[in-house]
Amino acid sequence: MFHSSFFFLGPYSLLPHLFQVAQALNNLSVELYCICDQIVTGFISIDCGGDEDYTDKETGIPYKSDKELIDTGIVNTIPADSSTNLAQYLKNLRSFPQGKRNCYTLRPEQGKNNNYMIRARFFYGNYDGKNQAPTFDLHIGVNFWITVDIEEEGSYSVIYVPLTDYIDVCLVNTGNGIPYISALELRLLDNSIYHTAGGALTNPKRYDIGRESDQSGVRYPDDVYDRYWIPELDDDWVQVTTSSTINSQNANNIPDIVLRTAAQSQNASIPLNFSWSPPDSLSKCYVYFHFAEIEKLEAGQQRELTINLNGQHYLTESIKLDYLNPITVVQTDHPSSGELLNFSITAAEGTKLPPILNAVEFFELKELPNKPTAIDDVEAIMETKERYRVTKNWQGDPCVPREFSWDGLNCSNNNPPRIISLNLSSSNLTGVISTSFANLKELQSLDLSYNDLMGSLPEFLAQLWNLNTLDLSGNKLTGSVPEVLLKMSGDGKLILSVSENPDLCPSDPCKRKKKKLFVIPVVVSSIAAVLVLLFIFSALAIYRRKKHGGMVTKSIIKSQNQQYSYTEVVSITNNFKTIIGEGGFGKVYLGKLKDETQVAVKFLSTSSYQGYKEFRAEAQLLMIVHHRNLVSLVGYCDEGEKKALIYEYMANGNLHQHLSVTNTNVLTWNERLHIAVDAAHGLEYLHDGCKPPIIHRDLKPSNILLNEHMQAKLADFGLSRAFATESDSHVSTRPAGTLGYVDPEFQASGNFNKKSDVYSFGIILFELITGRPAIVRGPMRNNHILDWVNPLTERGDVQNIVDPRLEGEFNTNSAWKAIEIAMSCIPSLAIQRPNMNHVLSELKECLALEMTCGSSQRMVTEGNKKTPSIPFKMTHLEYESNIFPYAR
Ligand SMILES: *[C@@H]1O[C@H](CO)[C@@H](O)[C@H](O)[C@H]1NC(C)=O
Ligand SMILES: *[C@@H]1O[C@H](CO)[C@@H](O)[C@H](O)[C@H]1NC(C)=O
Ligand SMILES: *[C@@H]1O[C@H](CO)[C@@H](O)[C@H](O)[C@H]1NC(C)=O
Ligand SMILES: *[C@@H]1O[C@H](CO)[C@@H](O)[C@H](O)[C@H]1NC(C)=O
Ligand SMILES: *[C@@H]1O[C@H](CO)[C@@H](O)[C@H](O)[C@H]1NC(C)=O
Ligand SMILES: *[C@@H]1O[C@H](CO)[C@@H](O)[C@H](O)[C@H]1NC(C)=O
Ligand SMILES: *[C@@H]1O[C@H](CO)[C@@H](O)[C@H](O)[C@H]1NC(C)=O
Repeated sequence: MFHSSFFFLGPYSLLPHLFQVAQALNNLSVELYCICDQIVTGFISIDCGGDEDYTDKETGIPYKSDKELIDTGIVNTIPADSSTNLAQYLKNLRSFPQGKRNCYTLRPEQGKNNNYMIRARFFYGNYDGKNQAPTFDLHIGVNFWITVDIEEEGSYSVIYVPLTDYIDVCLVNTGNGIPYISALELRLLDNSIYHTAGGALTNPKRYDIGRESDQSGVRYPDDVYDRYWIPELDDDWVQVTTSSTINSQNANNIPDIVLRTAAQSQNASIPLNFSWSPPDSLSKCYVYFHFAEIEKLEAGQQRELTINLNGQHYLTESIKLDYLNPITVVQTDHPSSGELLNFSITAAEGTKLPPILNAVEFFELKELPNKPTAIDDVEAIMETKERYRVTKNWQGDPCVPREFSWDGLNCSNNNPPRIISLNLSSSNLTGVISTSFANLKELQSLDLSYNDLMGSLPEFLAQLWNLNTLDLSGNKLTGSVPEVLLKMSGDGKLILSVSENPDLCPSDPCKRKKKKLFVIPVVVSSIAAVLVLLFIFSALAIYRRKKHGGMVTKSIIKSQNQQYSYTEVVSITNNFKTIIGEGGFGKVYLGKLKDETQVAVKFLSTSSYQGYKEFRAEAQLLMIVHHRNLVSLVGYCDEGEKKALIYEYMANGNLHQHLSVTNTNVLTWNERLHIAVDAAHGLEYLHDGCKPPIIHRDLKPSNILLNEHMQAKLADFGLSRAFATESDSHVSTRPAGTLGYVDPEFQASGNFNKKSDVYSFGIILFELITGRPAIVRGPMRNNHILDWVNPLTERGDVQNIVDPRLEGEFNTNSAWKAIEIAMSCIPSLAIQRPNMNHVLSELKECLALEMTCGSSQRMVTEGNKKTPSIPFKMTHLEYESNIFPYAR
């Protein structure tokens, strides 16, 4: 494979360009180096068939069992007699006797358009007693990767830039035995390292030149990307080594230890020859040469090299080496090909130092012709799959390659392909009709007949403008068939079958009346649709929570009922060093607990607690109120006049700051709805989740705080006393509320109750919607937000109500809904206002509308937006045959 034999000669012209690349890489490398420590975070290591998570002894890399990653295949174990010295991840495997294609889906945190190395490992070990290792195909994403043909042990790897946030690795049965896999690894690479012309690099060979061949190869942790380097030292080469540190912030993160050994020829007139035979003589190949001068030369001397390939100049110009300064040379514009690539590195003409080489990498370029199904369709169908737990061959990409497209669906030939028909007839579907169907925007035919679908027939199916067949017969749908669908059917656009749904009204007389404050474009109104939306909302909420990894239960509250002394408070706040706020009750300082948790310490000014005898009782009460949308009280201090409350720290400040005109980082519509829902959650909990209920009394944007995940939490609640009675109203003895947010009924009667909070909440909703403050102070009189908003809502002028800073980036239906909810909160008669429970569920629905319906208006704007450009699309694959270390 690796012969020294051959030669030199001929013109080429890319060197300046190459040097630029190498130098740019050199400059980049500083950043590269800094991220090294985190690179393990870019690792996914799966022990296929393993039953527990563990850390690999040799490398310290954590491996995860694949139990929760795949629901097909069966676990097999290598017989004990051949598994004694095996790495843990090879001791078990997962085989796939069923299905033609079985896939693992990797979801690296860093998502698409990044450079990943993916390695699949195989150890046959005669696990099935057949003494005949199978051969089968591997696919990466939607493209063929390689045929697995390994007698005992081996691995394949590919360097790949996925176009999707997930990467499917599929094993395809080709009729030559049952596919299996022992381990699957993903390594995030720096995007600047490997370049290809839009294809994929496979069959890698990496040689650590100058290391004795009997030494073990280099991998993680020496190589931060866990690449494998094979030692290589030919008999007629002269070994050169150094113990000095190479300027290791080198371009490609080539391990120091690899660069510290090199080979040179016997003298300057003899070239350093080697050849490589690509697995396929027609394939395009890339060769990365890594050089570094590691010999301390006399002053004035410099090694200068030229590289030739098959008698031609591989590079037109020579390469000069600097001491301990690595350089990488690669011909990215002109891949090489042939049965045998004879490379010859020679001393440049007129120079006296023999040629040297420290490391070299070979790759074979593979094209990736297939493009995955449109991402929106993939997401919608995945949601459908999960929602109904569809157990068909639903793995990998739904449409591509065509021969593996999912049972029950047909796709268009577009690029990218779209799902155009879905047949889930007799598939044991239960529950309501999911909105995910409405997200398959190109759907022409939808057959959900003969399942156990319940609830009403949702109108959103009418949004599928290409839908010509809708079969819902043989279900348990209730309510009536929406008018719009009946109309489509009447117009002959849609073949609609709803037979055998005993409780479904086939026409609209039984359509229920909608109550409304004012005219609203209705998208979804039936109860079932609400249920669907609620379901989706909760799914989204769970997803959101998962995404933010445990933020919900972040255990800031270590111990309940934590009382601190004044001295402790002084030390927590570092002697009141940093003021982070000043509220109605006093100054707020930044603090840090012993365990480094950041906190906000609110010092109550003397005036604020005067006549406030129950401070401790109340603080203690607040300590036990915990909800993810309430700022938690961590502790308090109560030493005579020195009274302080210690809260969890909220990194993103308060809503007032975010809405202020001076804030350039405008909250998106989606963020606003999330904040509204979060705040409603918190308030609902105070009202209905606490016994006795707690009335906030001073709800306003500056009391809605945002954490690092932009999750909103209410602050300052209950400071003006918890409810003492079960009664819904209570005569307050303390002044409460802030101008602009105070319930007019309270102003008149002094009666503060839950509905007063609802009023304040309505005002906040209007602020979120309009981006305007509750009160605009004028020279003559103050203008209240309602004076501004009321005429517009009467006209139904949604475009002018919504914050112009959103530049139209919102779903009109959800905006209307939000306005409707806000309107419902602000009647001057408290009794006419809904309770928070109702407000919350309406808001959730509103959010679900925003998340799922994606108005056509929005789609147009997004369609016009530039999509982020991909620096270089590339996918490399590599091939590491046999056991590592590689034996020639
Ligand atoms: C290297 O290749 C050149 C060019 O073909 C040839 O002339 C030379 O003999 C080879 N040298 C060695 C040491 O194999
Ligand atoms: C690399 O950095 C050096 C020194 O900072 C600078 O002179 C040179 O222009 C940079 N090269 C490139 C290609 O950015
Ligand atoms: C280089 O080495 C070859 C073979 O060992 C020898 O024949 C030749 O004379 C040497 N050339 C020089 C310049 O030392
Ligand atoms: C490469 O070198 C071998 C001898 O080592 C020779 O047989 C072959 O023809 C050379 N190939 C090319 C393309 O020059
Ligand atoms: C997909 O299309 C083919 C050919 O048009 C048709 O035979 C098949 O029934 C369709 N499948 C579904 C699920 O609609
Ligand atoms: C869906 O599949 C069933 C059989 O599985 C078939 O009877 C029915 O005609 C198909 N529906 C459509 C719309 O092709
Ligand atoms: C539906 O459920 C029945 C009974 O559990 C089962 O026999 C059948 O195979 C299931 N059908 C599908 C398509 O999953």
